[in-house]
Amino acid sequence: MKKSILILACTVLLAACNKKEEKKESLYPEVKKTQAQLTLELGQEVFDGKGMCYSCHKPDQKVIGPSIAEIAKIYKEKGASIVDFLKEKGEPIVDPSQYSVMKTNFAITKNLPEEELVALEAYILSHAK
Ligand code: HEC
Repeated sequence: MKKSILILACTVLLAACNKKEEKKESLYPEVKKTQAQLTLELGQEVFDGKGMCYSCHKPDQKVIGPSIAEIAKIYKEKGASIVDFLKEKGEPIVDPSQYSVMKTNFAITKNLPEEELVALEAYILSHAK
């Protein structure tokens, strides 16, 4: 009798422990997703806001600059760094003939904090098809 109570207690305890473990595991991806989401939101905020990128870059259509989707595609294919480009440490690889138009924006992008440059890169790359 005593033994079976002990076994029962152990089983309940084990089940409780397992549940806790499960909870931890299922929470983890949610936290990660939220971080990625926050980075994308910051990227969009800078892109549409103080970066003023939106005036020349639309998601799917070339206007003054290439579309965001086209930039994303080429940067993904070549594994190049948009952060470096925005710091004027890279070469233009999307439309070099129009580079002088884009160059005027380095006055803005060079003064952005690293976190916002990384967010801009994530936002642009999220448009790759
Ligand atoms: C005055 C218009 C204009 C604005 C504003 C502008 N761009 Fe551009 N952008 C261009 C043009 C034109 C090109 C094509 C030339 C080139 O590829 O460098 C370009 C190209 C790019 C490229 C591809 C560079 C490459 O490797 O060829 C990236 C990345 C980019 N822009 C990001 C941005 C971001 C981020 C912002 C906002 C901070 C921004 N642009 C604001 C006109 C603009």
